[in-house]
Amino acid sequence: MTNVTMIKRVLFFKTITVPFSSGSRRCSTRVSTGELKAAVTESAQPSPLSGEASLYVHWPYCLRRCSYCNFNKYIPKADNSSIMADCLQRETETLLRLSQVSSITSVFFGGGTPSLAHPSTIEKVLESISRHASLADSAEVTIEVNPTPVGMSRLEEFHRSGVNRFSIGVQSLQDKDLKLLGRDHNSQHALRTLAEARRLCPGRVSVDVMFGRPGQTLDSWERELSELLRVCDDHVSLYQLTVERGTALFKQVEQGQLALPAEEVMAAMYHSARTLLLQHGFQQYEVSNFARRNAVSHHNMNYWKGGQYIGVGPGAHGRFAPLEEGRAVREARVQTLEPDFWIQEVQHRGHATRRRIPLPSPLGLLEEVLAMGLRLTEGIAHQHWHIFCPEADLRTVFGTYPDVQNLLLSGHLILDDRGLRCSWDGLALLDGMLPTLLLALEGHMSP
Ligand SMILES: C[S@@+](CC[C@H](N)C(=O)[O-])C[C@H]1O[C@@H](n2cnc3c(N)ncnc32)[C@H](O)[C@@H]1O
Ligand code: SF4
Repeated sequence: MTNVTMIKRVLFFKTITVPFSSGSRRCSTRVSTGELKAAVTESAQPSPLSGEASLYVHWPYCLRRCSYCNFNKYIPKADNSSIMADCLQRETETLLRLSQVSSITSVFFGGGTPSLAHPSTIEKVLESISRHASLADSAEVTIEVNPTPVGMSRLEEFHRSGVNRFSIGVQSLQDKDLKLLGRDHNSQHALRTLAEARRLCPGRVSVDVMFGRPGQTLDSWERELSELLRVCDDHVSLYQLTVERGTALFKQVEQGQLALPAEEVMAAMYHSARTLLLQHGFQQYEVSNFARRNAVSHHNMNYWKGGQYIGVGPGAHGRFAPLEEGRAVREARVQTLEPDFWIQEVQHRGHATRRRIPLPSPLGLLEEVLAMGLRLTEGIAHQHWHIFCPEADLRTVFGTYPDVQNLLLSGHLILDDRGLRCSWDGLALLDGMLPTLLLALEGHMSP
């Protein structure tokens, strides 16, 4: 997910398209805004003003609509891919200049279907980045690939253009399910694309797979995942299918044409997947992400750890500290959503930033640190928390709150010399535990 329109949404199991929640809980706080702002601008996010950021590029077009998808994607009416390529370059240059970022640590081409973009587009965007910031040869450059014959045929050229990591949207190895989900590939396409991607970038290929599909049983899921694990590379993103309002799938489920597995079956599917992945040598490092041989997604890690990122393309989100009147102002930026308007704005104004959103309140920021940090199996280290909240450590904020103590006693949550994190069982229940933790935080921050 990942980043964003776009990495991925702060929903359990699901790809995050917006890396951070909007911080909508509004409460008073004991720490004055000025105090925390000072802390934030000095050192709050991992090196917020260090001049480093990751960069997300959103390709908004798809060949067709998958029945479950509510991402920001469009079926193109005409071929405007070369106009889109020019505009992506121009917006990349605008945002890099504005952000004053000197080093891009990772790039992620997501969508939509970025594997429909011509490889020269990828090359041009990477050239634009290199003209305005340093982009190390070793920097992770990922592209999401739909495993269709077209996607597969372009892998080699994408690789030559500078891509060094592929994220393949396999979703399922069951042809009837791929059809039901409206995918434009079958299992043979997926297997061939995966093999070709592994040949080109061994150790740097990820697969996206979804469970909780209509009619799926625990047995069939275990067989399917085992088959995938026999052929996949060193990274797996595992998503529970979310039925999104406004999608064709939503209608089919609502009208009773399709039925999803029961909640307990979904929980069992997640549990057995984690166990299988572990047996195959994968370490879980995030709610939905698993890696072998340390092949973690550095790009997504930057979001979960609250680093700076620049978002280019229709609907993309960014969060960085542009210099204004000599002063760094940290804020979120959202690009215009609809591609035709986005193109017009870039062509006429040189940029398509639609909204500039001030950072959430100090409490909102800590809520994000908590919600994002606990998705990681390593959790929130004391030092990391201290950067955002120097006035109260994790033990002071959470350790004494009775309902949190219950979570600690039950073993779902761990608070020790390393910091705060979920246990194996706790990670599966994170959504249920977060409200308690947020109340503890709010209670501590309120006068
Ligand atoms: C939005 S897609 C973009 C990449 C590419 N177009 C594809 O479909 O593979 C990124 C990933 O989000 C996940 N995703 C999208 N919609 C979802 C949903 N409703 N529930 C769970 N996962 C979803 C899929 O696993 C998909 O691989
Ligand atoms: S190909 Fe990917 S982005 Fe496009 S509709 Fe399907 S899931 Fe959504």
